[in-house]
Amino acid sequence: MNAGILGTGHYLPTNVVTNKDMEKIVDTNDEWIRTRTGIEERRLASDDIDSSDMAYHAALGALEEADVDAADIDLILVATVTPDTPFPSVACMIQDRLGATKAAAMDISAACSGFMYGLITAKQFIETKAYKKILVVGTEKLSKITNWEDRGTCVLLGDGAGAAVVGEVSEGKGILSFELGANGAGGKELYQNEDDKLVMNGREVYKFAVRQMPESTVNVVEELGLSKEDVDYLVPHQANIRIMDAARQRLGISEEKMATTIKKYGNNSSASIPMALSESVKEGKIKDNDLIVLVGFGGGLTWGAVAIRW
Ligand code: ACO
Repeated sequence: MNAGILGTGHYLPTNVVTNKDMEKIVDTNDEWIRTRTGIEERRLASDDIDSSDMAYHAALGALEEADVDAADIDLILVATVTPDTPFPSVACMIQDRLGATKAAAMDISAACSGFMYGLITAKQFIETKAYKKILVVGTEKLSKITNWEDRGTCVLLGDGAGAAVVGEVSEGKGILSFELGANGAGGKELYQNEDDKLVMNGREVYKFAVRQMPESTVNVVEELGLSKEDVDYLVPHQANIRIMDAARQRLGISEEKMATTIKKYGNNSSASIPMALSESVKEGKIKDNDLIVLVGFGGGLTWGAVAIRW
């Protein structure tokens, strides 16, 4: 019996901030941001919207698409590095708001790989038959921890949330293989400092990402006795179009076979992958029986990938 994704949803704040707007905040320019990162604009949440609000709306969409009642959810896993408060968790906050009264709930801290950690954790509970329906959410209000004086990071980040309902799917479908990893020695390359702001060594993270994304993609596909040519659609973490394109080219995947939301939304940490997945589903880019790979990397350092037969 396999666990698979039954429905997806995402939420984006309405406030669009363009590269031209960023020029008013730090010494930067549209051309630098576009050519170095692929980002054209990002969404930033207003003061009255926190990570739990975005998570709630993304979750509603996923429940609707999956045709599952909140009351039937057994477990809620929320990946976030920007919770409203350290406790109660965002998972508990949305458990109450959704009316998911029978669900256990906890947050997961694995930075940009958080959704992958959540999805793979959900798979274990479903396949051991402990639980039937699990809600996995990635939500980030990164603008709360952005250093607005650091042009090297503030131009990259955006706010948003994505969600998926995980449950049993028919034989041969669903999450068929996975890889999870961590390298705590790399923690110094990407972290939250004593002022609660995000600090990044861009070049080191870049090198790590360009190596890890193709490697993990190949690993999860080869575990199935398949090769990179069999991948129909790739949903990578949206950190930098150059990292994504380098991975795509190493894998021999064409542009239209890769989810790309970074232009409009920037880097949304743990929300990037579920947002890109949900948008791809709504746009009809993923078809029945496609082999898709979700692959992410981030602070920790952490990484994760899954191969899914849709
Ligand atoms: N506008 C203009 N110039 C800038 C900006 C900016 N926004 N930011 C940096 N620069 C300057 C630098 O000061 C530097 O100038 P100098 O040569 O005079 O010192 C020059 O541009 C080159 O800077 P680099 O940092 O070497 O630029 P690079 O080409 O490496 O690009 C970037 C930087 C985009 C951050 C890249 O390293 C990258 O994408 N790294 C990976 C980021 C990532 O994947 N993060 C994921 C985790 S973060 C998260 O998910 C929450």
